[in-house]
Amino acid sequence: MNRLAIFGGTPIRNKPFPAWPVFNQTEEDALLGVLRSGKWWRYAYSEAPDRVGSPQSKVAEFQEAFALHQGAKYGIACANGTAALEVSLKALGVGPADEVIVPAYTFVATATAVLMVNAIPIFADIDYETFALQPSSLEGAITSRTKAVIPVHFAGQAADLRAILDIAERHHLLVIEDAAHGHGGAWNGRGLGSIGHAGTFSFQASKNMTAGEGGLIITSDEACAALCESYTSLGRKSGAPWYEHYRLGWNYRMTEFQAAILLQQLKRLEAQNSKRRVNAAYLTGQLSKLPGIQTMHVPDYATRHSYHLYMFRLNEREFGVSRANFLDALQKEGVPCSGGYAHPLYRNPLFLNRDFYNHDCPLTCGHYDGNVDYSTFEALCPNAERACREAVWLEHRQLLAEREDMDDIVRAISKIYECRNEFSGNSGPVST
Ligand SMILES: Cc1ncc(COP(=O)(O)O)c(C=O)c1O
Repeated sequence: MNRLAIFGGTPIRNKPFPAWPVFNQTEEDALLGVLRSGKWWRYAYSEAPDRVGSPQSKVAEFQEAFALHQGAKYGIACANGTAALEVSLKALGVGPADEVIVPAYTFVATATAVLMVNAIPIFADIDYETFALQPSSLEGAITSRTKAVIPVHFAGQAADLRAILDIAERHHLLVIEDAAHGHGGAWNGRGLGSIGHAGTFSFQASKNMTAGEGGLIITSDEACAALCESYTSLGRKSGAPWYEHYRLGWNYRMTEFQAAILLQQLKRLEAQNSKRRVNAAYLTGQLSKLPGIQTMHVPDYATRHSYHLYMFRLNEREFGVSRANFLDALQKEGVPCSGGYAHPLYRNPLFLNRDFYNHDCPLTCGHYDGNVDYSTFEALCPNAERACREAVWLEHRQLLAEREDMDDIVRAISKIYECRNEFSGNSGPVST
């Protein structure tokens, strides 16, 4: 076998994986159509002062199409996935003094959205096998102040909603599904985001559907939908005069350009997700034969995985290479990869220093009577700690390649295993 590319050998591949985003003439035509129409936002200036969402706006068309795709009655487009979380929390009545339970292993926005509505994020652990919120840890984190839980469908795989919904019902908690990774995904045949009180999506550049930025809330609750629309447009009320504001809201609106692109991206989604699933199943079959590689468990309830990420764990001892060296070596063999989050969220300086509003508000500004010390969560979240040390992430665009490209990934990892002794007794990686 070759030397490892990291030590000067020939890499397994030089060919790039498919680029992301995928687009063609249809996105170009859609964008030019909006540009030339002069209607760049969802409202028409000519309708002032009582501007209403024009039924032929791209934003209206997209939010309806996406909600239908995921199986919800209403879709409310907004600026990004973080905004979608903030708005849905506020619309469901989460605010000062409320605790909201979030998994410790997720993107920071899941927790900061809670702080943005002056509520308190409380971290729970993830399940070792699925990387999603662990129901027993959720239940253990509930107090009399808990108002909501935000399960994350991490990597595009459904969280254990049967258990989570059962706990939520017993404790009267709101459930907001963070489906930022879950476009087209399903739990027991039901579209992700459509099962709890509200569900949120992101269309940021890395996501399975993208317009560079963008977000969307879905819900089947009419009152919640109306509030979400109001909060994304500075507290306006549908049908009321334009310069009349009823509640504290944001300008979190989506533009017509974004919606025009997303309508085209939605048409590609299912074919792309199917290909991701076929390639992911093949990779899992091959990689699970290798010592020290533990592929992510896909439970039966995750009926449609959208594979925003392809994840596995590296057991350094069994594989014989540290994760840092493994990631370096795999990249040098021509396979992009990363270790994901460096720490569980509570270990970020943001939480340890409580650098929130006016320093540590909303923890100390009068409404909240609990006592949270974010340094204590480490002991409560061993699986999140381990995931940050052991996980390896591949990107969804890699799963849009062909079978022989999946074989390259397997060959590259097998090569690192077979050449693992090169790491000891070598003075260090050569730079290329
Ligand atoms: C799990 C999760 N939630 C929320 C978000 C926030 O989405 P956005 O970047 O569109 O604000 C992200 C984005 O990466 C995410 O991964």
